[in-house]
Amino acid sequence: MKTESADWPEEIDSVWTGANLATMAANGRPYGLIEDGALAVSGRNLVWVGPARELPPEILQRADRVEDLDSGWITPGLVDCHTHLVYGGNRAKEFEQRLKGVSYTDILASGGGILSTVKATRRASEEDLVRTGRQRLKSLLAEGVTTVEIKSGYGLDLETELKMLRAAVRLGQSLPVTVCPTFLGAHALPPEYKDRSDAYIDFVCSQVLPEAARKGLARAVDVFCESIAFSPEQSRRVFQKAIELGLRVKIHAEQLSNQEGAALAAEFGALSADHLEHLTEQGIEAMARSGMVAVLLPGAFYCLGETRLPPIDKLRAHKVPLAVSTDSNPGTSPVQSLLLMLNMACTLFRLTPEEALAGITREGARALGLQERIGTLEQGKEADFVLWDIHEPAELAASLGHNPCHKVVRRGCLVG
Ligand code: NIG
Ligand code: FE
Repeated sequence: MKTESADWPEEIDSVWTGANLATMAANGRPYGLIEDGALAVSGRNLVWVGPARELPPEILQRADRVEDLDSGWITPGLVDCHTHLVYGGNRAKEFEQRLKGVSYTDILASGGGILSTVKATRRASEEDLVRTGRQRLKSLLAEGVTTVEIKSGYGLDLETELKMLRAAVRLGQSLPVTVCPTFLGAHALPPEYKDRSDAYIDFVCSQVLPEAARKGLARAVDVFCESIAFSPEQSRRVFQKAIELGLRVKIHAEQLSNQEGAALAAEFGALSADHLEHLTEQGIEAMARSGMVAVLLPGAFYCLGETRLPPIDKLRAHKVPLAVSTDSNPGTSPVQSLLLMLNMACTLFRLTPEEALAGITREGARALGLQERIGTLEQGKEADFVLWDIHEPAELAASLGHNPCHKVVRRGCLVG
């Protein structure tokens, strides 16, 4: 829909021309394509998006700056909707163990895995967490990420969970990226609650989660619902509390076994269910009914040497939106490249390059509940976009280890 000229803001900060646009909006063309497009930015928003030949002359006249890009493609800023990138220590030793055949479940049962990161994260200062998190986040930003979700879940006590969330919020204040902090207190059972998992859930629901919510440190609440973590009943209790506190929920579900976690989360209007290798037809139907996003995490699938694929065809058939993310974490997905996930979503999960790109833009935004603000190049949305030095959008997924990111604009400002 075109806006009448009277409605255009007096101040146009910049106009970008000379590139093709993969808007990822539903305009009936692959990638929401606009050939030889133009974008006009005012403040932090896009105020005009369309073919350059239709750009109203008034907009050009009012523009403070015109950037003629000469070639390349522009996509929406990338969205990494599932990460655990704030943590202490590293788990390279477990990589060696897994190569020798020790399973992820056995490593966790012997006090390693998530619990070894819990130890290191408890010991780390908030400054340490910000410093190491910043390095990882910078790798993502260099590839055009403008929005990232960051979970807690390696503290599992009041002080460390809040420390992690504060570190996540600080990263968003000091780098040009929108950070969505998620509370994941129910990630693993801390050693001090051994054999008392219900008591731990009581603690999470009565103390940690309310405090995180009171301090405004979490936008959403996640739970690891799994045989090696928390049961559906325990997950339900955390979700009930989250909803009571006015927070949205999401779930790590059906990663290693089917617990009907996705269907449980659907009862609470969850944003997404993530992993999903063991998702059943019933779970898919529940997700479709409640409009949830399926977040696919090919990095964890790859690093754990999984062979059972998420039911992609059935998710498609039920029109469940598919997002793709790094799951950046020290154990199962030590991944700091969303472009690599774009490739793996295609090669391992058989997404098309267009679906995979939608998964790290439009559907990633939907998985964070931000679809009205970001995720596509459309008038009225935030001016988050990336200029790529490529000839066609599929190149982003096809190539490995090369970063064709040329310029990044976030909320109207050139940031990379
Ligand atoms: O998403 N599945 C649970 N949580 C993380 C793994 C965290 C870890 O191993 O440190 C995941 O894969
Ligand atoms: Fe995860």
